Amino acid sequence: MSNEIKVLIAEDILSDAELIVRQLEKANLKFQYVRVETAEEMQEALKHGTFNIIYSDYQMPGFTALDALKIAREHVKDVPFIVISGSIGEETAVELMKAGAHDYLLKSNLAKLSQLTMKALEDAQNRIELREAERVVNLQREKLVDAAKMSALGEMASVIAHEINNPLMVITSKVSLLIRQIDNGQINSDEFKEKLKDNLQLVSKTAQRIARIVKGVKTISRNAENDPMELCSLKGIFEDSLELCREKFQDFEIELRTHMEFDDEFSLEGRSSQLSQVILNLLTNALDAVKALPHKWVELKVVPGIHGVVISVTDSGFGISNQIINKMMEPFFTTKGVGKGTGLGLSISKAIIEDHQGQFYYDQNSLNTCFVIKLPLKQQPVIPHGEVVIELEKK
Ligand SMILES: Nc1ncnc2c1ncn2[C@@H]1O[C@H](COP(=O)(O)OP(=O)(O)OP(=O)(O)O)[C@@H](O)[C@H]1O
Ligand SMILES: [Mg+2]
Repeated sequence: MSNEIKVLIAEDILSDAELIVRQLEKANLKFQYVRVETAEEMQEALKHGTFNIIYSDYQMPGFTALDALKIAREHVKDVPFIVISGSIGEETAVELMKAGAHDYLLKSNLAKLSQLTMKALEDAQNRIELREAERVVNLQREKLVDAAKMSALGEMASVIAHEINNPLMVITSKVSLLIRQIDNGQINSDEFKEKLKDNLQLVSKTAQRIARIVKGVKTISRNAENDPMELCSLKGIFEDSLELCREKFQDFEIELRTHMEFDDEFSLEGRSSQLSQVILNLLTNALDAVKALPHKWVELKVVPGIHGVVISVTDSGFGISNQIINKMMEPFFTTKGVGKGTGLGLSISKAIIEDHQGQFYYDQNSLNTCFVIKLPLKQQPVIPHGEVVIELEKK
């Protein structure tokens, strides 16, 4: 802001406007002003000029301070708006402040105008600085989220490589064994034919497993935020996530217990890729938590009901310390080493489940570490949180 204050005065009585101007001069403020009498003039002034402060009379012909405020807010958000009136009741004052006026002043008290103006300008400057700081913080946050996404992508790539490598090795070793046997001339023996059949069946089964892993990756890595909620198979949700961590569980010799007693057709309304992502997040957290323990197991339990389904992921860890419980759902909170965890798994999972009108929480009453998801089978229509629109109608 330059030193010169640009003032907009909405006042139909010229002598009253002059009183305002005199007060500002008396305080030795450097300023320029424009006076308007009607809504149209005010629109024009705001369209073409820049102002640091607006003073408005309460009642002008065909035009009130509330109308002026509404017009002002269409053009400028942070510019202080001060109502200067001959008489103004408490109720009206409250109504004006609620609608966004910064302050009000009685014409009989104009001596306070310069002081009030300086304070309003200072407040406005602070608001602008705060908004700028918020903007910078949000920008930083977006950058961090982008970096985290890249790291999640890297993690996903290593998961895929890991999960696919083993089945690929099965295929290549079986195929090279068969080739060797053919080269050795064993091709016509009955024993060879029997083995050939078994091995080809194993190759085919392993190739199908790779196909399922690829499907899991495709589903889970999908950005489904804007997808519609559709009926999705509960079985499919778990298959997609389990396929992506089975090998890792085997590698660490972690017992994976699954209790999933529901029909294959059991389905719920939601976004299957997001729900698989949540299950994978929980399974991965559980795996990380128990891999170094002497007793390592992870239990995935699904209890379907008439209206919803309760899913729990419990691991053989003995709970999480209070210090961590309070922070673990916050974005970027992680206790894993640099480059290992992004700290987004739980916060994203919670957001996804809440978006599905469900609940996501850590069960403090469980003996072992346990996370619970409760999901409704059907989504209820949501009334969007509309902006609170304050109608500034003429009284
Ligand atoms: N099953 C668990 N047992 C113990 N601690 C856990 C468990 N699940 C989560 N935590 C704690 O909560 C923290 C946050 O988990 P979250 O899934 O949000 O992030 P992360 O696993 O660290 O990283 P990523 O973004 O890769 O998931 C973890 O770093 C860990 O300290
Ligand atoms: Mg995690």
